[in-house]
Amino acid sequence: MKTTIAEVGKYVGQEVTIGAWLSNKRSSGKIAFLQLRDGTGFIQGVVVKAEVAEEVFQNAKSITQETSLYVSGIVKVDERSPFGYELGVTNIRVISESVDYPITPKEHGTEFLMDHRHLWLRSKRQHAVMKIRNEIIRSTYEFFNKEGFVKVDPPILTGSAPEGTSELFHTKYFDEDAYLSQSGQLYMEAAAMALGKVFSFGPTFRAEKSKTRRHLIEFWMIEPEMAFYEFEDNLQVQEAYVSYITQSVLENCSLELNTLGRDTSKLEKIKAPFPRITYDDAIKFLQEKGFTDIKWGDDFGAPHETAIAESFDKPVFITHYPTSLKPFYMQPDPNREEVVLCADLIAPEGYGEIIGGSERIHDERLLKQRIEEHQLDEQAYEWYLQLRKYGSVPHSGFGLGLERTVAWLSGVEHVRETIPFPRLLNRLYP
Ligand code: 4AD
Ligand code: MG
Repeated sequence: MKTTIAEVGKYVGQEVTIGAWLSNKRSSGKIAFLQLRDGTGFIQGVVVKAEVAEEVFQNAKSITQETSLYVSGIVKVDERSPFGYELGVTNIRVISESVDYPITPKEHGTEFLMDHRHLWLRSKRQHAVMKIRNEIIRSTYEFFNKEGFVKVDPPILTGSAPEGTSELFHTKYFDEDAYLSQSGQLYMEAAAMALGKVFSFGPTFRAEKSKTRRHLIEFWMIEPEMAFYEFEDNLQVQEAYVSYITQSVLENCSLELNTLGRDTSKLEKIKAPFPRITYDDAIKFLQEKGFTDIKWGDDFGAPHETAIAESFDKPVFITHYPTSLKPFYMQPDPNREEVVLCADLIAPEGYGEIIGGSERIHDERLLKQRIEEHQLDEQAYEWYLQLRKYGSVPHSGFGLGLERTVAWLSGVEHVRETIPFPRLLNRLYP
């Protein structure tokens, strides 16, 4: 029976054949332990000299790391392995040899691993992170579909810049200037006026000169936008959504979380509602904590976010930031013009901001004024202004950074391990 590692549990006591790669090997004169992987999972194959043809045992002893094989064997329950099964090998057929595989089981430096990202992805740890990324994507679609949202795909090539003009990737669109999308938000606002509740999932680009464990040049964002939703409604969607994906990862990725050594008791607590703190209170809190040089009007850096997050065991919303710190489209607080109806969601354990969101300005005159104040090209925003001209309604939305969320739920330190081929400052290879 030809099958995959993920499916072997169906064939206990039977002989199966698996297409696999050899990820590691240990052998003595009498027995060989083959660590096998096939993409769907990892399993140990045991080759006992006395139980197989001499040629099979010699094959097992001589095959090298990452050789591709067809392995046949009897499926056995193995209580010691977290996966639960092992294979009593009966036959091995080499498909293609692998000579001098660069990533050996010993430790390698990060730059070396990044240069070999196309191979590094095969490791057990990277496999686990990619599976968790996939589960977040899967449960994102599930959540928004259940909640009645429509998936809408905004363009990647754009003529406008939602998140400030300093971090744009400039390109030519024939004779015109164009930019790679920093966020699909403005288009999602148009879509919300057509479809009510919408979400997007796509790549976004920021020419940020930041070299931190939280910044990528190319990252993927989930951007919901909802007509008739005000500030408070928006926060409720966010906490329900983040709770949902966290519980889905716990439920469906226990093997992967175990591989990564993730403390799952921390994730079990991630259930709505989430705590909230205003920007004003966050500043006071930081000053009391000894950050003496921070004052009202300053933006938070990573150490500030971490200090705030440390007081909570759930993600925390920081709300009502000064207008001056945020993009042009955010709705001012009607009771306090100097702050906006926005919130950043800060993940626990030092993973930083995973969501930025707000209520949007729906008054045409105010929006026009903001576009002028921010010295944006009014022509490029003509269509966006028209959304306020023809039946404008209060609406809100947010953007969740996929890679930071993967890093947090997986418990990996750096976002470079959370995307298959990271684009970082000074790295466009492989
Ligand atoms: O806070 P940001 O810039 O918000 C927006 O782009 C809004 N237009 C979204 C919206 O309301 N529809 O980015 C949203 C999230 C951040 O909270 C962070 O998780 C992630 O995107 N992010 C990055 N992730 C990795 N690398 C970067 N350089 C990132 N910049 C933002
Ligand atoms: Mg932000």
